Amino acid sequence: MRIALIGTGAVGRGILEALAGKDLGIILTGVADSRSGVVNPDGISPSEVLRRKKETGLCGDASCNAEDVVRNADYDILVEVSPTDAGTGEPATSYIRTALSRGCHVVTSNKGPVALHYHELKQEADKAGVSFRFEATVAGAIPILHTLLESLGGNDVHALYGVLNGTCNYILTRMAEEGLSYRQALDEARALGYAEADPTYDVKGIDAAIKLVILANTVWNQRITLDDIDITGIDLLTEEAIRLAEEQDATIRLIGEIIPEKQLYRLSPRIIQKDHPLVVQGSLNAIILRTDLAGDLVFSGKGAGSLETASAVLGDITFIRDWYAGGN
Ligand code: HSE
Repeated sequence: MRIALIGTGAVGRGILEALAGKDLGIILTGVADSRSGVVNPDGISPSEVLRRKKETGLCGDASCNAEDVVRNADYDILVEVSPTDAGTGEPATSYIRTALSRGCHVVTSNKGPVALHYHELKQEADKAGVSFRFEATVAGAIPILHTLLESLGGNDVHALYGVLNGTCNYILTRMAEEGLSYRQALDEARALGYAEADPTYDVKGIDAAIKLVILANTVWNQRITLDDIDITGIDLLTEEAIRLAEEQDATIRLIGEIIPEKQLYRLSPRIIQKDHPLVVQGSLNAIILRTDLAGDLVFSGKGAGSLETASAVLGDITFIRDWYAGGN
């Protein structure tokens, strides 16, 4: 499989590191960051891209940009992992449309295009007979979309409860366990690469709410937007509130809920007992699914991070590789 990679931030770097470290039968034929790009139909060395990026700050030549790569590189899958713009979904949505119109598959970790334009992009992909996959948009390394869309296809999923933002969970954990201030904990989460380029997306609950929109629209075939979600973030939570919860052997977690039958979509900080399965530590995410056939299912894993998110992207790429290799 030939891929073109758009974005060399935390997720892109993780993908390049994974490709440099193991042979997955994936050939990189184009790569771009926000200021440069490179195209080579014979293949580009992922380690060479990482070295160049580290030394010069650019992954390729300043005379080539992301649009050139999307339009001209020779690839089977466009891997779009540039930062999310939740307001417009651009420029990622345009790159994705271009790739689909060229008859190429698309794998993305970019929440903007999926939250804003899922139905339209899926329709374009179906029309072109290609895949549009976005596992990395929700819950990082946890394969929750694959589970919901494919593995649980025979179930009615009545409810989803989840810790869906690694940055907020990290902040809440560090404040409760180590007595850090909100600001110190946020600075650490940023330094560790968990936070969005604009971390207010995380702490105000926008990032987790976007993930609820993606889940509702892709799994339950809804057509909701951020406005349909009742959102409270952790930005106004006090250190005192966390201390009071601790005194009752409880703690605070930012919990997202979807109950499709009631059209309930909510994100809010909740006091929960420490032995509850949603009380996970650090940048972990956790999800509980309530289903008719499979019963209750619980998942936890790294919700953010470079290699962890790359894992989800690579899973989508290898899924497409294997599906189409099988003559489907
Ligand atoms: N900023 C996000 C988080 C990254 O902290 O969960 C993963 O979507």
